[in-house]
Amino acid sequence: MTAGLSDTAGIPHTEGINYTGSKLRLLPYIIEEIRNLDVKDILDGFSGTTRVSQALSQLGYDVTANDISEWSEVFGHCYLLSAKPDSFYRPFIEELNSLEGYDGWFTGHYGGDSPLGKRPFQIHNTRKLDAIRDRIDEYDLDFTDRSVLLTSLILSLDSVDNTLGHFASYLAGWSARSYNTTAIKSICS
Ligand SMILES: C[S@@+](CC[C@H](N)C(=O)[O-])C[C@H]1O[C@@H](n2cnc3c(N)ncnc32)[C@H](O)[C@@H]1O
Repeated sequence: MTAGLSDTAGIPHTEGINYTGSKLRLLPYIIEEIRNLDVKDILDGFSGTTRVSQALSQLGYDVTANDISEWSEVFGHCYLLSAKPDSFYRPFIEELNSLEGYDGWFTGHYGGDSPLGKRPFQIHNTRKLDAIRDRIDEYDLDFTDRSVLLTSLILSLDSVDNTLGHFASYLAGWSARSYNTTAIKSICS
């Protein structure tokens, strides 16, 4: 191996949630190894955030992502299959960001003041999440376009979370970023 952790030359930009199992830091090594192989088609089993799939796809490989998690399937559709321009998603994103939050399922289970005592997100953000998540299901979109909006929503929540990258645990106090208000932006395309 010749790539180093600080060597980002030739490593495509990828997006993903803050996830302890992500291979983001290993991408230089993975790519270096694969570059030496005479392959065109790659199966990214256990694709998780799809960062590996994203990087290899951008490098021109034909990538198939596979994972048991539904969120990973959503990421896969967003990053590997969506082909529409930003302008297609912009009206949806604008409407979603303008919605009034409300106390729904996410707030009841994951809002900072929930009776269950979980603190992965502050309540002003789970209220927005409840409104946006419901509205996305009301749009008449195919799975890939829906995945773009869902991935945008997941990433936006990730930027205001109160964890260290593992959603089974969260910080006892509030992280500075958890006070920010989430806003989604168009991605994947
Ligand atoms: C460490 S993560 C993968 C990290 C990924 N390469 C990345 O960079 O984000 C492991 C993944 O394996 C998936 N997984 C676990 N058991 C699985 C199974 N039986 N079949 C497919 N995926 C599975 C999990 O859902 C999880 O996303």
